[in-house]
Amino acid sequence: HAEKAAAKARIKQLLIDQDAVLVAHYYTDPEIQALAEETGGCVSDSLEMARFGRDHPAKKLIVAGVKFMGETSKILSPEKTVLMPTLEATCSLDIGCPIDKFSAFCDAHPEHTVVVYANTSAAVKARADWVVTSSIALEIVEHLDSEGKKIIWGPDRHLGSYIAKETGADMLMWQGDCIVHDEFKSKALKELKIQHPDAAILVHPESPANVVALADAVGSTSQLIKAAQTMDNQEFIVATDRGIFYKMQQAAPGKTLIEAPTGGNGATCKSCAHCPWMAMNGLQAIEASLTATNKTEHEVFVDDALRDDALVPLNRMLNFAK
Ligand code: 13P
Ligand code: SF4
Repeated sequence: HAEKAAAKARIKQLLIDQDAVLVAHYYTDPEIQALAEETGGCVSDSLEMARFGRDHPAKKLIVAGVKFMGETSKILSPEKTVLMPTLEATCSLDIGCPIDKFSAFCDAHPEHTVVVYANTSAAVKARADWVVTSSIALEIVEHLDSEGKKIIWGPDRHLGSYIAKETGADMLMWQGDCIVHDEFKSKALKELKIQHPDAAILVHPESPANVVALADAVGSTSQLIKAAQTMDNQEFIVATDRGIFYKMQQAAPGKTLIEAPTGGNGATCKSCAHCPWMAMNGLQAIEASLTATNKTEHEVFVDDALRDDALVPLNRMLNFAK
């Protein structure tokens, strides 16, 4: 405990000395989220992280999240130094959508508008017409559908199916998934709901369709927190990464938050409601990103040409979201 407190104090000083700010996702561990709050940084969903990093006057951004979040920050703020606790923190959606294969898929359907989730590499973003995050995806696809556009959607098949169902848009799907949300199980969720009949079920749309079908509210991380805060229920069953409980409990004090069931025990469950890559953002790694003399394990770079191309669909999203 004392060691952690000392590490936190050192990090706070390093942030001040280096004119740096900590930008953390809701899925990082509670102590990292608390540190971001205490130091004037931000804890948010991926859309707000991108905006906050872009608009903050600090010279350095420490992005505690996964690699695509660091890359997005660098694309939006090329003049800033963007560091990550570790560049090894990736995402199964990003891994499952390599640029060569995705680009070939797009080339095979040239009449389609390419919409990609933010959870992708800079190269995949550069190939897209639009980038979306889960908090704005529905509105953007609705807008494109109203213009009669056919859509290529990648990489999350569950989020894509949910949006196609809600909007009726014509969408060709890439078949990726999130290893965390893919683990939520509808049968066990139904059984849990029987034990908690008054609980509202909150579901992130990266979850399978039969889990989304049981939801009282479906939304991005920030939208789920808002739902817990504003809905009258006193109990919530929550199907998303358990990192969200820190902020959700703050927003809904006194309410009971219950984890939605995942697939089986530790032996069969790859992630068990906590993203293994988000979990890499520990205090030690954050301190290392600020103190390392050789920054190759921490600094995010995006090739200039790729950056120019990726900025276009990213800015479309940010301007649409205004
Ligand atoms: P949000 O955009 O809802 O924060 O989700 C991003 C994400 O994939 C984290 O897993
Ligand atoms: Fe990717 Fe899923 Fe982890 Fe989010 S929770 S970063 S979508 S693997």
